[in-house]
Amino acid sequence: MPGVEVRLHLYVVFLCLCACLSDASRIETHMTICVAVITVKSREPLVNRLLNQLHNLSLPFQVGLDINVFCDGNCSTLEMGNFPVFSLRPLIAEKPLSTATVRRITQMYRLVLDHIHISMNKSWCVILEDDLVLAPDALMMLYHGRQLMEMDPSIFTVSLFNDNSFHFSATDQAAFRRVSHFAGLGFIMTQRWYIDLIRPNWPYSKPWDAYFQSQLTKNSLVCIIPEVTRSKHVTNAFYSARSHIQKPLNSFESQYLANSILPEYNFSALIQSEYDHHLTKLIATAQDLVFIEDACFVDDGHFVYKKCNSQKMLNRILKERNLWGKGNGGVVRGMYRGLLQIRVCSSLVVILCNDSPFYDHNANNSVFATPHGAQSPLRGVIGRLQLDYIIVTGDDGLDCSQVCAGVYKECDVQGLFLLNKGCAVLELLALSCKVCSEVKVEGSQPYTGDMPAMLSDGNCCTGWPHHSSCFGKHVESKRICPCK
Ligand SMILES: *[C@@H]1O[C@H](CO)[C@@H](O)[C@H](O)[C@H]1NC(C)=O
Ligand SMILES: *[C@@H]1O[C@H](CO)[C@@H](O)[C@H](O)[C@H]1NC(C)=O
Ligand SMILES: *[C@@H]1O[C@H](CO)[C@@H](O)[C@H](O)[C@H]1NC(C)=O
Ligand SMILES: *[C@@H]1O[C@H](CO)[C@@H](O)[C@H](O)[C@H]1NC(C)=O
Ligand SMILES: *[C@@H]1O[C@H](CO)[C@@H](O)[C@H](O)[C@H]1NC(C)=O
Repeated sequence: MPGVEVRLHLYVVFLCLCACLSDASRIETHMTICVAVITVKSREPLVNRLLNQLHNLSLPFQVGLDINVFCDGNCSTLEMGNFPVFSLRPLIAEKPLSTATVRRITQMYRLVLDHIHISMNKSWCVILEDDLVLAPDALMMLYHGRQLMEMDPSIFTVSLFNDNSFHFSATDQAAFRRVSHFAGLGFIMTQRWYIDLIRPNWPYSKPWDAYFQSQLTKNSLVCIIPEVTRSKHVTNAFYSARSHIQKPLNSFESQYLANSILPEYNFSALIQSEYDHHLTKLIATAQDLVFIEDACFVDDGHFVYKKCNSQKMLNRILKERNLWGKGNGGVVRGMYRGLLQIRVCSSLVVILCNDSPFYDHNANNSVFATPHGAQSPLRGVIGRLQLDYIIVTGDDGLDCSQVCAGVYKECDVQGLFLLNKGCAVLELLALSCKVCSEVKVEGSQPYTGDMPAMLSDGNCCTGWPHHSSCFGKHVESKRICPCK
């Protein structure tokens, strides 16, 4: 399955976000976030875009940026851009870098991390790929995450990226989680972890992130990730965004990128003891679910789902919802101590597997009640769609924003994801469909975002949820739209 490994074909950008003092003479007045960017020649447009974006992001009061671009090859055209100051640092090794992609990327990481943590003696780093779009508070989040890492040594990285930041599984921009997978795509790691854990015995034969994961697992560490992602790829349609070099047209499409600045970034609730205590309380006061989607019957509820016997079953649960997880690198994405939290509609569901230390803990305290009796797995979704939306089939060639405007309503992304969940939903709510089937979108196919829809033969299709959009359309199909 796609995951860390697949991302490796992308060249990467590193951003080292170091809480560092740029200049001894300015110690008293200025703190800078030291940023190291790594790229390769011919990716200048991506880097220019990223630099531009970095300079637009919110920063803590009186904190500046110190950007270092590490380039594999000749990136001289970068210097001709209209960008605020940055340092260009060629990536030079004693021996030529490998021509094998995975090995070369690993070598690049090593060179950059050595440069940052050893030559430059920086204590904090962020690593990004050069094709990432960042949320407005990406640097704010990491800046404060750094303090959390000082307080809790069980944290390996604080990361910007959540694989499962889709509209049906993530809603709370102020929620952050401890997870036991290595979360990349924008993260800070301490100099200490680099020198003690990563640098010794680093094998070039293994993808760098698989190695980071193995070190994390071996040492029982965790990463911190946001519920709503703070970064996503700009170039890789398979993951998240349109395939050209720009911000996605609409931030509500595909992966849901955070768009606000929180009033406060206080991560002390993520310290292990606090966090575990919070989970215990959450579980103790939660309602049990028979079907996960029943959580949709309730606004802002919190639930536990205990029919999980193993990691394998948890994989299946994620897979059924088209969520990334599926044990990338042998580790379920988003899992922590045998449980996984996901949003279902606006409710929070804690999936508890029976090997979790939390599993029995509060079994007798939970309120055993299912919201509306649980008749079938998608009843909650259908109920939510019937309650909050009208489902309208448009004319050929219109997108859902137009279709909903026609009934003086708006297309709603959350509703779109629910409607696109599968044929069981569509068949009940779009009665004019003759037959319904699910269209599979393969990795290399371009983003279209035009499902669910009725085709010219009267048959209906749902699509891969990651490729659903209010703005997708096709000349020969009628969009089926959730209007609110
Ligand atoms: C940064 O902000 C400027 C001015 O508001 C805007 O013109 C530009 O498009 C922004 N760049 C990015 C990459 O968001
Ligand atoms: C790098 O590329 C630029 C423009 O493409 C060229 O003028 C310059 O000579 C190159 N530098 C090196 C060291 O190859
Ligand atoms: C690296 O920086 C630390 C402070 O963060 C300092 O104590 C140490 O002496 C520095 N090491 C070198 C080799 O400069
Ligand atoms: C963060 O929140 C905790 C309580 O959750 C509080 O005790 C602590 O003082 C806060 N820290 C800051 C820096 O505001
Ligand atoms: C829950 O209650 C049942 C019956 O009252 C009891 O047999 C069981 O041991 C309890 N389980 C826990 C974890 O307390």
